[in-house]
Amino acid sequence: MQECVFIDGARTPNGRAHKDKGWFRNLRPDELLTSVYAGLFERNPKVKPADVDALFVGSANPSGMQNDIGRLAWLAAGLPDTVPSNTLTNQCPSGMSATMHGARAIMTGEADIIISAGVEDMEKVPMGANMNFPPRLLQFYNGADLLMGATAEKVAEQYKISRDDMDNMAVWSNKKASEARNAGKFKNEIIPIKGLDDDGNEKVFDSDQWIRDTMDREKMKTMNTPFRPNGSVTAATSSPLTQGACAILMMSRKKADELGLKYSYKYSYGVLAGCDPTVMGIGPIPAVKKLFQKTGLSPKDIGAIELNEAFASQSLACIRELKLDKENAPFDKVNVWGGALALGHPLGESGARIIITLLNVMKTEFPDARYGLASLCGAFGNAGALLIEKV
Ligand SMILES: CC(C)(COP(=O)(O)OP(=O)(O)OC[C@H]1O[C@@H](n2cnc3c(N)ncnc32)[C@H](O)[C@@H]1OP(=O)(O)O)[C@@H](O)C(=O)NCCC(=O)NCCS
Repeated sequence: MQECVFIDGARTPNGRAHKDKGWFRNLRPDELLTSVYAGLFERNPKVKPADVDALFVGSANPSGMQNDIGRLAWLAAGLPDTVPSNTLTNQCPSGMSATMHGARAIMTGEADIIISAGVEDMEKVPMGANMNFPPRLLQFYNGADLLMGATAEKVAEQYKISRDDMDNMAVWSNKKASEARNAGKFKNEIIPIKGLDDDGNEKVFDSDQWIRDTMDREKMKTMNTPFRPNGSVTAATSSPLTQGACAILMMSRKKADELGLKYSYKYSYGVLAGCDPTVMGIGPIPAVKKLFQKTGLSPKDIGAIELNEAFASQSLACIRELKLDKENAPFDKVNVWGGALALGHPLGESGARIIITLLNVMKTEFPDARYGLASLCGAFGNAGALLIEKV
């Protein structure tokens, strides 16, 4: 088998998915996606678009503007029509699945240069838009129990995650993200793009819109619980509605050496897993357990972990059950630059985004570590976990 190495990864800043307040409200998701392709090619001039063997593009809701977005965005940007693509979904892990498909195509020798990507604009293609549940599904589940917020409340209840711990996690995530942004740590992964400021003036943005520099704990205690009356999950402890895109350039080690490109990490292993959709947020538990069981690794072997923060309740349940770190934030090796509670979570994008951030966190903060792990949950009990290894 060929080795698959990570050459580069880039993303747009994450914008708020809001028709009046979002920084990228003037852009379509295909434009977000092609801006990261353009950034990747600009940063890697030895790689020609026509030499890409295939694109794998994840989107949680590939309908409307996101219908076959992998192919249509590429063509709309005037890129070569000879490069095939596969837009795919398994909800939030879509961008991670795209990366697994790409890596495996390289490892089997079917491809040498692959771009995997993730994209979601939760304003232009809202969560659940065009959803039509199979009626037979409702024999087994109450439709209301499958909604994301309801699952977060159920996880908090089942795993006894207190509102105070969730608030603490949200505060910590924003603090870490704010510190990382102010120290310029996201510079390597963010491609600045032009959007609109609050007054509608054009402006180039190079950081994420949602990160809060300060958090008002007293206000957080009084915030309402939109998903259940007298529940415990609030807007502060939920990932916010976001738009964003990212892309990863992967190559066979042989091809990278031929082109004289530098790399530090390779794809090591990836698994998908499933869980009860009414507690979908615990998906990383079976996914990471499966990955550890198949690789013989354990949390002590892992340098850095990126665990997508869909909700504080599910993140804490996963960290505690998997014994990935301390019981409560701040953590030593999980989401050390903050997570989706602060950065935002453009659904199908996040599975690839956390791999990009993991590569940067490993290189910057844990240069001696051999393994890095990324994992996330997804609607309806989809989940994924992916391991990278230092070369
Ligand atoms: C929770 C959710 C419903 C909130 O949506 P919203 O009502 O549009 O939320 P907003 O972001 O406007 O925030 C609502 C209020 O909370 C406040 N707020 C949000 N986060 C806050 C924080 N960390 N600290 C203090 N206040 C906060 C906002 O400022 C706003 O207050 P205001 O009205 O006084 O200005 C929405 O973000 C959501 O559905 N998130 C989950 C998305 C999801 O399911 N993703 C998939 C996961 S698998």
